[in-house]
Amino acid sequence: MTTLDRLLSLRPAVSVGLLTADLLALGSELSLLERAGIGVVHVDVMDGCFTPVMTVGPPFVKALRTPLLKDVHLMIRDPLATLGDYVAAGADMITVHQESCTHVHRVLQAIGTMPHAVDPGRGIVRGVALNPGTPLEAIEPLLPEMEMLLLLAVNPGWGGQKFIPATFDRVARAKAMIAASGRQVVLGVDGGVTRQNIAAVAAAGAELIVTGSAVFDGKAAADNAAFMLEAVGRGG
Ligand code: DX5
Ligand code: ZN
Repeated sequence: MTTLDRLLSLRPAVSVGLLTADLLALGSELSLLERAGIGVVHVDVMDGCFTPVMTVGPPFVKALRTPLLKDVHLMIRDPLATLGDYVAAGADMITVHQESCTHVHRVLQAIGTMPHAVDPGRGIVRGVALNPGTPLEAIEPLLPEMEMLLLLAVNPGWGGQKFIPATFDRVARAKAMIAASGRQVVLGVDGGVTRQNIAAVAAAGAELIVTGSAVFDGKAAADNAAFMLEAVGRGG
């Protein structure tokens, strides 16, 4: 099964962000997600240049020993030079920002030529992320070279920020744009998704929903993960 087919089979997928997980207990945090039925794990890579702070890099992605899809969100300036390192680390999905690439189309073409590290035939899902202030039209010419559009509902930088309500309108318009193109592009939303709004985000048409601090802050991560799956209609 290709990586894209696996992602499609999980829709609406809940992709759990590890930014506020207990990084010293990564193994047990991952098995907690697996046991809850989560299918995708989201890694926020920040370089302290495109974003105010730095986070993790390829060794962290490699350290994630899990059957979950590794959804790597690169918030880094000009990722072309380091893409191969994330692929070698076992990324299943790589999302780059339209705003951070000098030549975003070239970056997507480059990812498209890279074999998956574990299973060369499986392919890597190519995502393009858009900040809340970027017009949706910026990705229209890229649709043939991407498999996922990730709409940020917060400005990149930190977990735990407040969801920007205008995202709902962007989801509706992006959905229409993708449908008109006839392309198979998964629509994702990232940032500020909580127990309170996840059902509304799924109902608006998001097919991959990233949620981080709402799962890991506090002590009830397993309950939170199960709640999120239930709320998008994938509860078990
Ligand atoms: C924002 C990141 C998000 C964020 C998600 O820069 O891309 O993935 O960390 O975390 P929450 O769910 O806490 O907003
Ligand atoms: Zn993210």
